[in-house]
Amino acid sequence: MMFQSLKVNKLELKNRFVVAPMTRVSATLTGCVTEEMNHYYQQYVDGYFGCIITEGLYTDTLCSQGYQYQPGLINEAQANSWKVLNDYAGTNHTAVIAQLMHAGALSQFNGYASETKAPSVIKPKGQQLAFYYGEGDYQMPAALSLSEINQIVDGFVHAACLAQQSGFSGVEIHGANGYLLDQFLCTHTNQREDEFGGSIENRLRIHTQIINGIREKVGSDFIIGLRISQAKVNDPEYKWSGKAEAKAIFIYLDTLDFDYLHLTEPNALGCAFESGLTLAEIAKQFVSQPIMVNGELNSKPAIDASLENGADLISIGKMALVNPDFPVKMLNDIPLMAFTFDIFNPIANLDTQFSVLKNKGEGYV
Ligand SMILES: Cc1cc2nc3c(=O)[nH]c(=O)nc-3n(C[C@H](O)[C@H](O)[C@H](O)COP(=O)(O)O)c2cc1C
Repeated sequence: MMFQSLKVNKLELKNRFVVAPMTRVSATLTGCVTEEMNHYYQQYVDGYFGCIITEGLYTDTLCSQGYQYQPGLINEAQANSWKVLNDYAGTNHTAVIAQLMHAGALSQFNGYASETKAPSVIKPKGQQLAFYYGEGDYQMPAALSLSEINQIVDGFVHAACLAQQSGFSGVEIHGANGYLLDQFLCTHTNQREDEFGGSIENRLRIHTQIINGIREKVGSDFIIGLRISQAKVNDPEYKWSGKAEAKAIFIYLDTLDFDYLHLTEPNALGCAFESGLTLAEIAKQFVSQPIMVNGELNSKPAIDASLENGADLISIGKMALVNPDFPVKMLNDIPLMAFTFDIFNPIANLDTQFSVLKNKGEGYV
């Protein structure tokens, strides 16, 4: 099944293998794609992935940027810098989807503003990520006003239009991992008393406005995906309150006009809560759109099990970094290169990855 095609919206993906979005802090300081990044992403096209989701791209000059050397999608120069990859991938029938990301309270660097913003004035748990140039505690964020929330929605819509113009097959709204949209969804980071806090519908209002705003501008054929998770980069053990909350979230999401739901869990085949079903199995009961599943799906049996139990697509993160030809290896039963965290040390960028792999005689040529 992993090599069967799948239609997402109007687009036929040639197989079920997707490169998971991975921030590589390797863009220019102005947020444009470099030659090194083109090489990095083109490896996945050559490796026969059906789809690539880019690293998270920031969406406005207000407060969205999370990391130094993060690429953005706020102007023509940034959008045009993705064309080399989009042309190459298009010729080789690999879809490329731009992940749109707002860091919210987890921002560690913003070239456009010094303050961080969030749904509520709550200091994030944990410490900034050193391998993305961060140090020490996260800042105390300011609470977003209603007009600032409107500007954030506009930023996502504008970024999606730029993505469409520059040849992406679609966009993925980053609602996972503790960043801004996830801060709205979770009650410990969202204590608002207006229409963006309280009920699930209110906590998913910004997601709704972003999806509706994008759909209105890009038309019905352009892919819109949504990524959500329980775990957060600054709180990996976090869980929703239980299956009832998961069910309510999925029932509400099913009413929205997106084309796939991307679920990420630390281990996608593990129980979503104390016992019982995986998150994908729960989602499948309520969500009619295709479901993309992520988290430690690094072998044929694991991928088969996931595809038999709720997943329509599989996204591969860390193992794809050291095996950009992951689908080819699965097809031909070629053993995978082992992943080790030294490719992120000291900085999780492409320079480090390629020099570590080169020293080991693997990867970059
Ligand atoms: C270096 C690195 C960067 C990441 N950046 C992003 C990102 O920009 N957006 C996102 O949604 N997830 C990001 N993730 C999470 C991955 O998409 C994925 O969920 C995670 O690696 C687990 O999948 P795996 O077990 O296949 O590695 C990142 C993960 C890594 C290792």
